[in-house]
Amino acid sequence: MHSIDFVRHLINSFSVFYLAMFFVLITVILEFTSAFYYDPVYYVPKYKDFLDVQSKLAKKLFDDYDPTLSPVYTWTDIERPIGYDKEGPNRWNYTVFLYYLKLVEVQEPEEKVSVVMELMEYWTDARLSWNASHYKNTTTFYARQERVWSPTLTAFGVNDILDFRDQDNRLVCIDQSGFVWNYLSVRISANCQMDVSRFPFDTQICQIRFCLPIFYRVQVEVLNEIYKGIMDENIFKTMGNSEWKLINLTNRVEVLRYNDNMGNMDLAIFEITIRRNPLYYIYMIVFPSFIINFVSIVGVFLNGADKMSRLNVGLTNIMTMTFILGVMADKIPRTGNIPLLGIYIIINLVIMLIAIAIVTAITELRRWATPKLRMKKTALRAQMEIFLGPPLEYTCAIILELMTCANFLVMVGLWFDDGL
Ligand SMILES: *[C@@H]1O[C@H](CO)[C@@H](O)[C@H](O)[C@H]1NC(C)=O
Ligand SMILES: *[C@@H]1O[C@H](CO)[C@@H](O)[C@H](O)[C@H]1NC(C)=O
Ligand SMILES: *[C@@H]1O[C@H](CO)[C@@H](O)[C@H](O)[C@H]1NC(C)=O
Ligand SMILES: *[C@@H]1O[C@H](CO)[C@@H](O)[C@H](O)[C@H]1NC(C)=O
Repeated sequence: MHSIDFVRHLINSFSVFYLAMFFVLITVILEFTSAFYYDPVYYVPKYKDFLDVQSKLAKKLFDDYDPTLSPVYTWTDIERPIGYDKEGPNRWNYTVFLYYLKLVEVQEPEEKVSVVMELMEYWTDARLSWNASHYKNTTTFYARQERVWSPTLTAFGVNDILDFRDQDNRLVCIDQSGFVWNYLSVRISANCQMDVSRFPFDTQICQIRFCLPIFYRVQVEVLNEIYKGIMDENIFKTMGNSEWKLINLTNRVEVLRYNDNMGNMDLAIFEITIRRNPLYYIYMIVFPSFIINFVSIVGVFLNGADKMSRLNVGLTNIMTMTFILGVMADKIPRTGNIPLLGIYIIINLVIMLIAIAIVTAITELRRWATPKLRMKKTALRAQMEIFLGPPLEYTCAIILELMTCANFLVMVGLWFDDGL
């Protein structure tokens, strides 16, 4: 009884004081729980300042921010030309910045080119801007990408696009003006029409196109850029592969135009020009078929061999050439024009056919003419008979060998012309 009275007395007389104390305590506890534990032994005090300011800034920025809503201005009339509204903002712009490119493979029969592209993309989001002088001159900070709205980069008209990043580990950097950028690494397999009429000395042009679908062209603008550093000769050399060399890389923005305003779309285009290294085809096809043809002609015209073995040499050669044509056919798309290498092999084939025809004709001619020439013995006829023997064959063999050499030299000349 006594103690309860005493407590009541205490509460009545000091209630105001306790209440005040209670609020002070709450404030202190709140202060401790909102600020993290920071050990100045490990880190300099300035670092804590920065972290505090950054937390404050992020809290302020992301409080009312909805990352599922885009900053694109849509009070636009899509039927009217770009920039008709003088009071409205400029078109919201989005830039794809090429930082590095690596050619992975070229599949000629399918007319596909695969590249790995290291890209940066950047855009602005007005909701993410702040006055740096209110936050101790904090001008930039990094955050997880899921905290901000990001546009979806889409490759236009490609076979396949593969984003190497883990969905959960993407980062962005945000600066005080609402400028946001991030980095991505993608593998793209693009369709390129190939012109193989100069194969194996061919140069191909391939385009990789990006767009932002669903937005109208009066609302967004797509831009592209190439990092100046990679236009350097030494870096450029590393971007091809062992078969193909990159010789030019350009960028531009093209408009995919339809007759109405609605369907128009900005396409950010990166264009690569690649040149084949023909050395493989020179020593795997051009040189061997030259040697085979050269030796076969000697074999076909070989004196003393019987008719059947001469024909055998010729037919074996023709089979070899046909086989080589088949090897080449696997490497080129099925287009209408015959590539240079095909023409070269076909000429070799024709030379061999001529050789076989000549040998057969001469044998027949000799069989037919010799008895007739022997009937009347004049000096001219005797000479004719000698000429119908080895000299005629030698002359033909030399002419055919010269044709084979000329064919080979033209091919090598084209190689040098191509700039090795
Ligand atoms: C892109 O948009 C930003 C912000 O609106 C603007 O400052 C910048 O000039 C624009 N860039 C181009 C190329 O229009
Ligand atoms: C940022 O804040 C400072 C201090 O309040 C002010 O002087 C300055 O004009 C502000 N800057 C902008 C761009 O609003
Ligand atoms: C922010 O930068 C301005 C201008 O550079 C400088 O005068 C000011 O002292 C800086 N404020 C802080 C807190 O560092
Ligand atoms: C690359 O292409 C551009 C545009 O077609 C051209 O102006 C430039 O001369 C080319 N560069 C080389 C090295 O071929």
